[in-house]
Amino acid sequence: MNIEVSGNQFDSKELRNVLGCFGTGVTVVTTIGASGERVGLTANSFSSVSLDPPIVLWSLGKQSRYLPVFHESGRFVINVLGVDQLHLSNQFAKPSDDRFAGVECKEGLGGLPVIQGCAANIECETISAQEVGDHVLFLGKILRYSHIKKDSLLFCNGAYARATEV
Ligand SMILES: Cc1cc2nc3c(=O)[nH]c(=O)nc-3n(C[C@H](O)[C@H](O)[C@H](O)COP(=O)(O)O)c2cc1C
Repeated sequence: MNIEVSGNQFDSKELRNVLGCFGTGVTVVTTIGASGERVGLTANSFSSVSLDPPIVLWSLGKQSRYLPVFHESGRFVINVLGVDQLHLSNQFAKPSDDRFAGVECKEGLGGLPVIQGCAANIECETISAQEVGDHVLFLGKILRYSHIKKDSLLFCNGAYARATEV
């Protein structure tokens, strides 16, 4: 079905479907609060911005209870999930008393949780946090990264997938 829609009052469900046809990887973005509490959420808004200097972005819903923690810590870790870590995507997207239960982590720079077994861990310091519409856009400078050669988990059209070469 072909659809063409213009205007400024888009149907939000349809818009979500349109934007969701752009496939992404899946990450868990983590940080740590002032009293040492670990926080993390599943995010597919992650994107690379610049190689030199090395800068990445992701966005957090303005309503998120984690917003103050990400603002205060001034740091975040992008944990890029592998296909074998789909359960972590669900675990970090659902309400829970302890999203880190059973998750193997190492302490990264500034004591931030770095999830083990990921395709990549990208440790960043926040260089900008700007409200854009209903989200806050975080830009971060990469301080350190690690990488394991494995299949990344993908998300497209509201479903998880793995990459097959075409
Ligand atoms: C595949 C996937 C991608 C998501 N991407 C984002 C994102 O980029 N930014 C965001 O704020 N929430 C994103 N979410 C939603 C959050 O993970 C989830 O709503 C949030 O952790 C719920 O937290 P709460 O318990 O604080 O409401 C995503 C969820 C899924 C399943």
